[in-house]
Amino acid sequence: MLDNTDAVERRTATALCRSGASADKPFCDGTHVSVGFENGDGV
Ligand code: FES
Repeated sequence: MLDNTDAVERRTATALCRSGASADKPFCDGTHVSVGFENGDGV
């Protein structure tokens, strides 16, 4: 059973990495900005 002392990372929002550059896969860590990743849909 988990309590507040357990070392569990809790995330309230997540983004999955689509660039392949994240050091925290499968999550996006923002590295896509420095590698110039573009998702191809203009967003
Ligand atoms: S999408 Fe891969 S690091 Fe953000």
